[in-house]
Amino acid sequence: MPQETDQKATQMLDASASGISRAAQLLRQGDLVSFPTETVYGLGADARRGDAVAAIYAAKGRPSFNPLIAHVASVEAAKRHVIWNPWAETLARAFWPGPLTLVLPLAPGHGISELVTAGLDTLAVRVPAHPTAQKLLAALDGPVAAPSANPSGRISPTTAQHVMAGLAGRIAAVVADGACGVGVESTIVGLTGEAPVLLRPGGLAAEEIEAVLGQPLATRDLHDPLTAPGQLLSHYAPQERVRLNATSARAGECYLGFGRYSGARACDLSLSTRGDLVEAAANLFGHLHHLDAQGQPIAVAPIPETGLGAAINDRLRRAAAPRDEPSPTPSK
Ligand code: TXA
Ligand code: MG
Repeated sequence: MPQETDQKATQMLDASASGISRAAQLLRQGDLVSFPTETVYGLGADARRGDAVAAIYAAKGRPSFNPLIAHVASVEAAKRHVIWNPWAETLARAFWPGPLTLVLPLAPGHGISELVTAGLDTLAVRVPAHPTAQKLLAALDGPVAAPSANPSGRISPTTAQHVMAGLAGRIAAVVADGACGVGVESTIVGLTGEAPVLLRPGGLAAEEIEAVLGQPLATRDLHDPLTAPGQLLSHYAPQERVRLNATSARAGECYLGFGRYSGARACDLSLSTRGDLVEAAANLFGHLHHLDAQGQPIAVAPIPETGLGAAINDRLRRAAAPRDEPSPTPSK
């Protein structure tokens, strides 16, 4: 059984060999460990242990069992759990390790807990590029289920400090290793139908995927409950109200700028003064955490919809969505 983490202090581990080995030992015994990936910090559990995966939901306060991503060390490791196909081969060769998650049919004898797949017959898999994530997966020699390491509905963490601020006392350990380079979650592509489908925009631009596939990605039908699990609209929400497409701040607001206008008050920040979407993605959650702590509403500049702008706008729309209202997409 996983230990009762509620009353326990969360250990801060570093990315040294002993830190990684301790983290792997904790995962092996069914405990929860947060670790850095190139996208965001994940909240990891051994994906083969239902008790450990259940503890993820408890620690995050997740209201429902959404399917989780299984992180693996290599293509070979992925093939132990899913049925591979030519699209997967093409995309994995081009983009793994990296910020791309592939949804594929579960393989016979996959060994993955039903709590990871939420009972679906498909699995989301990804090989993360972050060296510390790679080392941890190698040390465990098994799949790690990991959503972002934040309380349910709150901003995703891009530093160990963000993880501690949200989950200290509720998880066994955090492997601290700086800020995440990409800054938004992985792009998810479904490969279980007649054509590859973009299930979630993320840290790898859809245009890059389409260039490698040589065909456009289909987009998910928002009203199809089978292909849109757990996409609650208000999902990355800071405590403070968020106003989008604001060309300037109103009285009492902090401004989150992009490009030349980055605001003039002490609380104003820019996602990227040079208008670079990659830099903006890396700064997104950190800046939202910072502005949220100011205790004022946040006005956000318009962000182009191209490249990583699609993922940034997706997360911003969720942050700005009204709370406690029915989701426009079915939630499972
Ligand atoms: O960058 C990332 O992807 C981060 C880091 C930690 O790797 N992880 C992450 O996990 O964002 P999470 O649990 O927050 O997001 C998982 C998403 C959910 O939106 C879920 O609906 C989708 O993946 N998903 C998981 N399994 C699926 C499946 N079998 N079919 C369709 N969607 C699935
Ligand atoms: Mg998340």
